Amino acid sequence: MKQSLLVKLFERSEGNVKVLVVGSGGREHALAWKLLQSDTVRQVICVPGNGGTARLAGCQNLPLSVDDFEEIAQAAQTADLVVVGPEVPLAEGIVDHLRSKNIPAFGPTKAGAQIEASKSWAKALMQAARVPTAKGATFTNLEAAKAYIQDQGAPIVIKANGLAAGKGVTVATTVEQALAAVAAAQGKFGAAGNQVLIEECLTGPEVSVLAITDGLTIRPLLPAQDHKRIGEGDTGENTGGMGAYAPVPLVTANQMAQIQQEILEPVLKALRSQQIDYRGVLYAGLMFTPAGPKVIEFNCRFGDPETQAILPLLETPLDSLLLACVEQRLAEFPAIAWKPGASACVVMAAAGYPGAYAKGEEITGIDQAEQLANVAVFQAGTQLQEQKLLTEGGRVLGVTAWGEDFDQALAQAYAAIDCIEFNGSYYRRDIGYRVRLGTTTP
Ligand code: AMP
Ligand code: GLY
Repeated sequence: MKQSLLVKLFERSEGNVKVLVVGSGGREHALAWKLLQSDTVRQVICVPGNGGTARLAGCQNLPLSVDDFEEIAQAAQTADLVVVGPEVPLAEGIVDHLRSKNIPAFGPTKAGAQIEASKSWAKALMQAARVPTAKGATFTNLEAAKAYIQDQGAPIVIKANGLAAGKGVTVATTVEQALAAVAAAQGKFGAAGNQVLIEECLTGPEVSVLAITDGLTIRPLLPAQDHKRIGEGDTGENTGGMGAYAPVPLVTANQMAQIQQEILEPVLKALRSQQIDYRGVLYAGLMFTPAGPKVIEFNCRFGDPETQAILPLLETPLDSLLLACVEQRLAEFPAIAWKPGASACVVMAAAGYPGAYAKGEEITGIDQAEQLANVAVFQAGTQLQEQKLLTEGGRVLGVTAWGEDFDQALAQAYAAIDCIEFNGSYYRRDIGYRVRLGTTTP
């Protein structure tokens, strides 16, 4: 046993690590890109990947479904590490399957993924761990939910219980809106909406703190801020995320220490007390309320597009960090090292997103954009067809740049966008506006 571990470590130092990344978004392109910058990584396989990972040197796409755990396990037989990007396979138990075959996988088990997949479970866990969060109650009965809303008044927040691709939340400003949202949630979200969580409405800037853990030790990455709304000035419909930046100047070192002590560590302890061996990302979606940081939600995976903004600043080899989690060695692992400066990711989306949008538009100019210094164009909804790169999803590209400060990073990201074209492309011109205002208050 010991000897085979030594052989593995030796192979690693020779630059032989092979990683399989599950997913097909901008987040997975960024993970593959960062992994391949490590001296020890020889090869990345993306399942199924996208147009960006198809063209990345050292990376190969494997066209399997992310739900086909057995096929993925077969493909991962010779992998040193599997990194699972999206929440759906995690919630369905991909890591349980891989672990049962002794395949080292970074990501929580099905039990751990409930922290994202069931908002009512997560709320109960937070309450048990005494973590600061919005006051909330879970309902399965429409009439009881309506009575609660009448009693609490507006503003109030209605959340479908299960995974709803970021679309299960209504922040209702009137009681009528809240009543309409619970009525709709009963039918609209299928199994995900059979339970609703009704929550106190919090106010304040939102910050994403992604932390990595081996189940015993937990360490935050740089804090990041997403831009969830489609319109400039944070207006219009919610989306998967229209851009992100890292770090967040608003968040002080003291606040990060407070988040570590009052949120991350108690939650990890609560997971352990339920015999959940959580080795992956614990992503805290926080609101900086006048009473301090409170949790809005937890996700069980890397954020998208936060990951695209965070990873360019990471100095520590990503494979060694993730392997330290999988092998439960995070306590002995050196402090995570970061480049100084700032990073920003601006999402280019297809016209119509987050509603119906066209596919199959040809994308040009990515090579020119990537010739600019400190730029990476992470592809999300793209497909490579006969050497042509075509749009394939709503969020198409995450155009990312980094520099000595936010002015540099943002100017470079928008300069890169100016090189890129596809029919109907849409992007927000105000990513990072809160940093520029010198405040992150909405
Ligand atoms: P989620 O799907 O949980 O990320 O929620 C989507 C968005 O709804 C969040 O990014 C917040 O802007 C908003 N939201 C969720 N919960 C609350 C809350 N308790 N108070 C105010 N806004 C919230
Ligand atoms: N950026 C939001 C998310 O990953 O859920």
